[in-house]
Amino acid sequence: MNAQSQDQFRWTTPDLGTGVVSTEPNTSSAYFEVEREKVFKRCWLNVGRVEEVPNPGDFIVKDVEPLKASVLIVRGNDGKVRAFHNICRHRGNGLTRACRGSAKGFSCGFHGWVYDLSGNLVHVPDEEQFFGLKKSELGLLVLTTDVWEGFIFIHASVKPEQTLKEFMGDIGASLEGYPFSDLTLDVEYGITVDCNWKVFSDAFQEGYHVGFIHKNTFPTAFCSKDNPFLHMFEYRLGEFHNAASVYGNPDYAPTPVDLLMRKIGTSTYGAPSAKAAIDGLKGLNPQRHPHFMFEVFNFFPNFTMHVGAGFYYSYNFWPVSVNKTRWVMRLYGHPARNAGERISKEYTKVLLRDAVKEDINTTESTQRNMDSGVLPYMVLCDQEVMLRQKYGIVDRMVKV
Ligand code: FES
Repeated sequence: MNAQSQDQFRWTTPDLGTGVVSTEPNTSSAYFEVEREKVFKRCWLNVGRVEEVPNPGDFIVKDVEPLKASVLIVRGNDGKVRAFHNICRHRGNGLTRACRGSAKGFSCGFHGWVYDLSGNLVHVPDEEQFFGLKKSELGLLVLTTDVWEGFIFIHASVKPEQTLKEFMGDIGASLEGYPFSDLTLDVEYGITVDCNWKVFSDAFQEGYHVGFIHKNTFPTAFCSKDNPFLHMFEYRLGEFHNAASVYGNPDYAPTPVDLLMRKIGTSTYGAPSAKAAIDGLKGLNPQRHPHFMFEVFNFFPNFTMHVGAGFYYSYNFWPVSVNKTRWVMRLYGHPARNAGERISKEYTKVLLRDAVKEDINTTESTQRNMDSGVLPYMVLCDQEVMLRQKYGIVDRMVKV
């Protein structure tokens, strides 16, 4: 790399320091329990998209492990999306066992208490046998809910310190207006991985590993002669969140199958025809680089997105225990208009599935070795600044 491009790629964060980062936050059960209280109960958490509950009565149920909660998200007759603990107020039975559906109300399977779509308790069988029972005080337990750009978020607090919009900050604002609702879900993958949630999300917050771990899945798509280690062209750090621009290899030589997919459908890495829709957005490709591929957005603590022209991928990292993470990956794109585009989408789904399997392999190995106790710290380079920021924020919140 020549001197000029070295400067262009180089980026420093003096306020975050340059020292080593302790591995204890990834291995200590005590630290994990404090994270649950001081991080996950103090942050807005993404639990879905509004398209999952398009009509009144539509509902989804999501496990939110760090809150130890099953959450029922439902669109009311007034069109509002609400979230409740999926718990019957009688004796605590799980109200619904379905993971999604459409209903006029919810009836508990245990003794038949019935709640309407707004969570009000509306019917109690054999009600006269109870003692001074006030149905108006026994509605479903509400979780604070708000929607940002079609993404549904919940908050454990009744009165969060920040509104969702305030929490999303400048990084979120830079993405507002992206045509999320034009894109449809192509596939959702989920797996529980044997590693800490931070270890797993680390793999999605730096490009250093791409030329090594993904050399078979993405042999020349990203790394180039001028940028062999996939340095990001620009990083943006907010109070909680961060973003970075990922650029492709201008000399990318598609594999034969890539070439075929481009002929019959759209590229795995975005549709040139969709570029116009993102041109006005300051959060995507702020440098207006011709080889822009996508922008990485890390919304603290556990929601990452890759956003490009005509596609976005979302990743939720749900902490189950100190060394177990349930991970959900969703790929969104324009609906296929013909068989060629359908086949191309299938190819993308398989390619990305294989790539994340490569990440899973390394993150589980990393966790095992951290758990051995012989690795006191990690050594992070400048291109791992998004990890450094995340570990810093978590540590500050845990130690308050
Ligand atoms: Fe739900 Fe009894 S626990 S009706």
